[in-house]
Formats: sequence, C-alpha cells, structure tokens
Amino acid sequence: MSYAAAYEEYVYPLLLRDCASCHGVSQVPLFASTNVQNSVNVTMNFFNFTNRPDSAMVRRTTDGHCSNQPVCLTNGSEMLAAVEALYDNGVKNINDDSELTDFDIAVPAVAIPARDDLNPTAFLPMQWDLSELGLPGYRFSIEIQYFDEFSYRIRNPKFHSVPNGTLKVGGIRPMVNGHFDPANNQWALPMKTLATTNAGVLFTNFVIVMGREGDGDVLSFAFEVLEK
Ligand code: HEC
Repeated sequence: MSYAAAYEEYVYPLLLRDCASCHGVSQVPLFASTNVQNSVNVTMNFFNFTNRPDSAMVRRTTDGHCSNQPVCLTNGSEMLAAVEALYDNGVKNINDDSELTDFDIAVPAVAIPARDDLNPTAFLPMQWDLSELGLPGYRFSIEIQYFDEFSYRIRNPKFHSVPNGTLKVGGIRPMVNGHFDPANNQWALPMKTLATTNAGVLFTNFVIVMGREGDGDVLSFAFEVLEK
C-alpha cells in the first residue's frame, strides 16, 4: 500500500473527526483540511516513525490539547494505533524491503566543520552539488550542530535547483565517516515529488542525532530514491 493510501485509511479519518474544528479551518498547522494531499504533506512533520509514541500527532492526544475530542480521551492509544497502522502498511514495507543496500545513491563525504566552528547553539549549513549524481543544477543541503562531545544534530534537509525543477525523493540517511547510524537514523520519507521552487523543505522539525567520533569526521548522505 502506498504511504498516501495508508494515511488516508488509518490516520486521516481521525484527524477529520477530531481535529478539523481547529486544524481544518484556521489553526495552523492545517493538517485536517479537506485536501488529503495537503494533509499528507503537512503531517509528515509530526510523525516520528523511529519512535512512534513520540510523534507530535500522538503526544498531542495525551496532553489535554484537545481534551473533549474522542481520540483525546484514549490516552494516546487510538492515535498511536493509527500511526502504527500507517507505519506497518505505508512505511515499514518500503524501508524493510529496502535494506541499507537500497540506499545506494550517495553524495561524496564532506568534512564536518571542526568543533570550534560549530557553535553549540547554532546550526551551520552544509551542502552538496548533485551534478555528479546526474542532476546538474541541483543541490542538497542540511544544517548541522555540534550537540555534545558524542553527537551532532542534523536538520532541515532541503533540495535546491537552478533553474527550478522537480525531484522524486525516497528515504534519506546520514552517514558519519561512511557509517550509517546503528540507531537507524533516517528521514524515512515515503516517495515524494518535490517542487524545488522554494527549496522544498522535507521535514522542518525532525532533527536527526548522529554519533560523533571526533574532529575530522566527514558527513555524507545516502538516498533510497533520487531522480528527476
Ligand atoms: C480547540 C482547537 C484545537 C483542536 C480541536 C486541536 N488542536 Fe492542535 N493546536 C491547537 C492550537 C491553538 C495549536 C497551536 C498552539 C500549540 O502548539 O499548542 C495547535 C497545534 C498543534 C500541533 C503543532 C504543535 C506541535 O505540537 O508540534 C499539533 C501536532 C497538533 N496541534 C495536533 C492536534 C491533533 C492531533 C488534534 C486532534 C486529535 C488537535 N491538534 C486538535 C488547537 C487545537
């Protein structure tokens, strides 16, 4: 089942039923709008498929956020079941079938700025030219932060193109010194076609934490799908 079909079957009905009075009308994020594709795009920011109970979508049904709505009276279990069903039917098979070997399109490693240059509170941009991958004019960028002695935080994966183009993208995994993270960190996105007009942001608030080995670490990314 495609991600969109699983989403429409398992998650979307709950949002229309219990969240639309606010998030379908005027309250951003507008994920309970009647346009299911918009809903798919907006909610991607609020799922955490590696730690599903920690998804904002689930948490917001446990914290009194919408206390009088049915899904919010289940202490998160109803929304979590929906997210699990979405994961099982629309995400997992994509990722399971595509073991690491399917993440075989990789950008060359680039040196991570030295610890002294990485302000602990700020994120520094890094970017890759995708012309070597047969995508001339396209770039991929992220922002990276020196989080502590043992880890980096990486966020805001974006694609850019000059002139504006579109791109089909699957999962994205960071690699430090050529290794995927044992914790399986990735932006596990379902296949998505991006218009890069405004440097299509994939996930705005899902930050990946990657192990740091030391100064001299290099960063690269592998993609499950990356094509025009
Ligand atoms: C009575 C109005 C109302 C209802 C109903 C409502 N929300 Fe919200 N929601 C808000 C408001 C206001 C905000 C922005 C302030 C905030 O973050 O609390 C918000 C923000 C959010 C956010 C973004 C902030 C974050 O936590 O990342 C999420 C996710 C969210 N709501 C989930 C839900 C879900 C899921 C439902 C339905 C089960 C729901 N909301 C129902 C009013 C509502």
